[in-house]
Order: sequence, then structure tokens, then C-alpha cells
Amino acid sequence: MTAVEPLLQRRRTHRGGDLRPEHAGSRARLMGWAHRVRDHGGVLFLDLRDRYGITQVVFRPEKLNAKTMEHARSIGSEFVVLVEGTVMCRPKAMENPDLPTGGIEVEADALSILNTSRTPPFPLDEEGSASEDLRLRYRYLDLRREPLKQSIVFRHNMSRSVREYLSDQDFLEIETPLLVKPTPEGARDYVVPSRLQPGKFYALPQSPQLYKQILMVAGFDRYFQIAKCLRDEDQRADRQAEFTQIDLEMSFVSEDDVFGVVEGMLEAVFRRCMNRELKIPFPRMTYREAMDRFGSDKPDLRIPFEIRNVTAAAAGGTMDKFKEAAANAPEHVTGALAVPGQAGASRREIDAWEATAKLMGASGLAWSRVKGGGLDGGIAKFFAEGDAAARLIEAAGASDGDLLLLASGPRAKALRALGTVRTHIGAQKCTLDPADFRFVWVHQFPLFEWDEARQAWGAAHHIFTMPLDEHLAHLESDPGRVHAQLYDLAANGIELASGSIRIHRKDIQEKVLRIIGMSPEEAKLKFGFLLESFEYGAPPHGGIALGLDRLVVLFHGGESIRDAIAFPKTASATSLMDGAPAPIDPEDLKELKLRLET
Ligand code: AMO
Repeated sequence: MTAVEPLLQRRRTHRGGDLRPEHAGSRARLMGWAHRVRDHGGVLFLDLRDRYGITQVVFRPEKLNAKTMEHARSIGSEFVVLVEGTVMCRPKAMENPDLPTGGIEVEADALSILNTSRTPPFPLDEEGSASEDLRLRYRYLDLRREPLKQSIVFRHNMSRSVREYLSDQDFLEIETPLLVKPTPEGARDYVVPSRLQPGKFYALPQSPQLYKQILMVAGFDRYFQIAKCLRDEDQRADRQAEFTQIDLEMSFVSEDDVFGVVEGMLEAVFRRCMNRELKIPFPRMTYREAMDRFGSDKPDLRIPFEIRNVTAAAAGGTMDKFKEAAANAPEHVTGALAVPGQAGASRREIDAWEATAKLMGASGLAWSRVKGGGLDGGIAKFFAEGDAAARLIEAAGASDGDLLLLASGPRAKALRALGTVRTHIGAQKCTLDPADFRFVWVHQFPLFEWDEARQAWGAAHHIFTMPLDEHLAHLESDPGRVHAQLYDLAANGIELASGSIRIHRKDIQEKVLRIIGMSPEEAKLKFGFLLESFEYGAPPHGGIALGLDRLVVLFHGGESIRDAIAFPKTASATSLMDGAPAPIDPEDLKELKLRLET
């Protein structure tokens, strides 16, 4: 056996954030990383860091032998060291009020360098402007830094509160498989070849959806899981290939029960992790109302203006486009945003907002300033006659000093375009408090979406979503008008959760499958096991899944959900630290009976 460093055989007496002036005079043995070393021409200061904090250690040449002093001078950035010494109160002038340990320092009398470190590729002791790629490459170093570390700690605390709350509410945490049958959910599956059954593949789960429903059939009544989900889809700031859901399912419940559990859970998280009271219940609005007022199914309620339907008033002017919309109402609309106090916006800004509207499919974005009770500039000339301008201003809810923006055309396109413009202006012009969390339930989404490519109806969420009771009658005769017991939770413009009450009745399920053009054979092939289980007494059930990564970023802060994940992937779903994905050994391919196309 190799000799063990004798000092290591002893334990730390304190952690990095522990020591206070009341410890003065006592002995301390600390271990950690060399955060910063300052040589004051003789006296050497070392900021020793561990997960819990930073402690200042001082090496005084007059009290130490030359060898120890020389050893101390060899400490480099991020070396791992052990220090023993006496806790001393710092002289008043030397106290550091920014550090919990700022009232003391440890006067070292023994030192052991436990490990050296290469020079880190970016400084760890400052916020620094290291590129994200570099930080992802050396993730373990970035994780040593305060912002990321705090985010990981917050995430842990949140998961723990969620587990405690749900367990107290009789939910059981049940793991579901990672190697599953390829599923028919929205995104592409990640697939795993089977060695034992060449030519067959598992999929990695996009969510535990089918399994959690089967757990309801199995009688577990209340299930939850902090579940990894894997989706081979294009990455964005709020999307990762691998992400985590707080996944729930409940039996014998209505939408109200699901909302109540989620509200209670978030109330507990706020109290336990943020020391804040959360106002519950959250407001609710139908999908239709969300689209009409905010042009979005995840409205940011902090932005202090919303869309007004001005179809009739806008048709009172002489613009053909607006008259056309009125003639085709209600399938077409003219919507208006009265942006408070933005009459002074520059043409460049207005042009940029118009470009945004066009990107969202609007044919244009009309504008005018509201001045002295009338319109000024832009489309003002079309509203010169009679009280046309005054009627438009009133319908838009505008006041002097506002900028009026209008989009006209097919309902969904015009409203979505205005919704996106509203969000952009909100981000640019309004002071939106990131700590003001404005939760909102958006419910009663349409059950079906028209798929242009297939020229057929598709399921808006998934095929197990229950229509609203009162819409069952026209399920087959008018699918486009069927709304579902389907809901999202949003806050500040972010979709945080999505769920539904599920179909547990075979007759309704069969109708839905027929409408989306899925044959019973295809349905059986894709999720026959779920449909079969439903034949053995499926209870009415429903659930929801919350995006944990998104919740952490919203509550704790961060640029993207990468800041909430210890080991995230880049936009091309690559892990820069370990190099995944990577080619596999040709021998392994052979064993799997796979050949690559070259
Ligand atoms: P859905 O697909 O809407 O529903 O996902 C639920 C929530 O998960 C989060 N989310 C993501 N977070 C990060 N990266 C991603 N790629 C990503 N995709 C989704 C979002 C979203 O609101 N099985 C259903 C839930 C149910 O019906 O119970 C489901 O997975 O916050």
C-alpha cells in the first residue's frame, strides 16, 4: 500500500463558510481549492474555496519556517490544499462585509498541497466573459463558479420540495422504463438498437405518458416522477434534447383537481426554496381568450397592453384591407395594440416591428400616432373623414401619446403576429420585473390541428386527450370546433407545463382515431398495449407535466435552460465536455447487425 498523506487521515474541522468571529482562538483544519492567492511581499493571502464558501487564510513569514512559506508560494490557481491554523478576528479595516466569513481569517501553521491543477482556461474567481462553448467544454470548472453552482443547488432544493409536497399528498414516485417502444408523440425519437434482437429498436422516452396512464389502470391513483425525457428535435434556448419533467397523473379527477395540486406544489416550492408567498389559485383563461387578448397561448401578463379587436372601427376608414377583414369577420379580424407612451417610436423601430409581424405571417403592420385626440402619421390619412379616427382610437383603447399598431387578416395569423410584436415591444420598452411571476392557466385548447402537409386533422396535444363534454356531440361532424380538456400553465411568456384529462372510453378513443385518420391496425401497432389495458377497467384520469429545467431558470434566473442543467448539450445536441455523440466501434456495429451508409 502506498503511504497515505498523514494530514489527510484527519478530517476537516470546518467547511468553507463556517467560521465567524466567535470562533476566534480555536483551531481549524480546512480543505478546498485555491480560489485566489495574493502575495503582499512577504505575507501571503489565500482565499480557500469549497462548496460552502470562501475562507481567507494568511501565511506570515515571521511565524512560519522558510520551507512552509516556500510551499505556500507554490500554490497555484485551483490547487487543492489542506490548511491548519488558528482562527483570528480580522482587524476592523480588513473585514470583508461581502463574505459571511469576512470577519475572520485563519493564520496557517501547516499546509499540505493535496493536488495541483493546470491553469484553468478561464478565471474562476470572476464573472468573466469566457465563451459558453469554453465553459461547456470545461463544465466541471464552470460548475465551481458561483452562478452555476447556485443554480444546481436551487434545482436540488426544488426537486426535494416537489418530492416532499407530492409524497405528502399521497403521490407515489414510480420509475418508468428508459428503453421503450417507439412512441407517436410530437418529436422524433432517439432510438437504441437491440443486440439481442437485431433489426429491432427501442426508443428513449419522449415522456412517460403511456406508462403513467397504465399506472392509473394499475390502480396507483396518484403517480409522480421527476423524469428524464428525450426528444430528437431542434434545440432552442428553452429546449434540450434531454430534459426533465415533473410528471404527474391522477385518477378520478377533473381539471380543477390537477390545477389544485400544481398550485399547491408551486406554493410549497415558493415557500421552501424562495421564502416567498405565492398567490394561488392562478387566473385561468381559455385558449380563445388568450389568443384574442394576447395573440399567444403563453401570454406574458406583465406587459401592460393587450390586443383589441377593432375590426368594425377600422372598417370605418377608407383602407380596403380593413374593410375586407370586416367583410370576412369573424374568420378575419383587424387587431390593434395601443402601445402606451410610444408615439415617439422611430420609423426604424416601427419597421423592425413590422418585419416581426411579417415573419409571423401578417401581410403588414399599420401604424399611427395618437396625438391631441386624433391620429398622426402612418394610416392617419385613411381616417380623416368624420369621426373615423376617434372611433378607432376608442376601440383600440388608446390615449394621447400612444402608438397604434394594427394587423388585419385571417384571425390566427393576425393575432399571432400582434402577439409576437407585443412580446418584442414588451422586452424592448417595458421594464419587466423577472421576479414578478405572473402565472396563468390556459385551457380548453382545440383538440385537433389542421395539418397542411397531410391535409388532415392531427391531435393538437396527443390522441388521448378528452374533448370537452359539451363538444362530444359535434366531435365527428365539426372537428375544428372541438375543444379539449387540455391545459397549459404559463408564466411571463414561458410555457411551463402541459397536460390533459385523458380519454378512458373506447368509443370516444375510436372516434378520435378515425378523425385523425389513424386505422385501428396502426393504433394497435403504435400503442396497442395502452389500448388493451383500457379494456380492463381504466379509471377516468388526467395529469400534467411541468418542465423542471424551465422552472429553475424562471425562478432562479439564467440565460437559457442550459444554466439549470449540470451537463447540458449545445444547439446541435452535442456535449462539448465528453464529445457525445460519437462514432461507435465497427465491431459494435457488426454485433448490432447495423451497416452505415457512406
Ligand atoms: P409536453 O410535451 O407539452 O407534454 O411537455 C411538458 C412540459 O415539458 C417542458 N418541455 C421541455 N423542456 C425542455 N426542453 C424540451 N425539449 C422540452 N419539451 C417540453 C415544457 C412543457 O410544458 N406527456 C405530456 C404531458 C401530459 O400530458 O401529462 C408532455 O410531455 O415545460
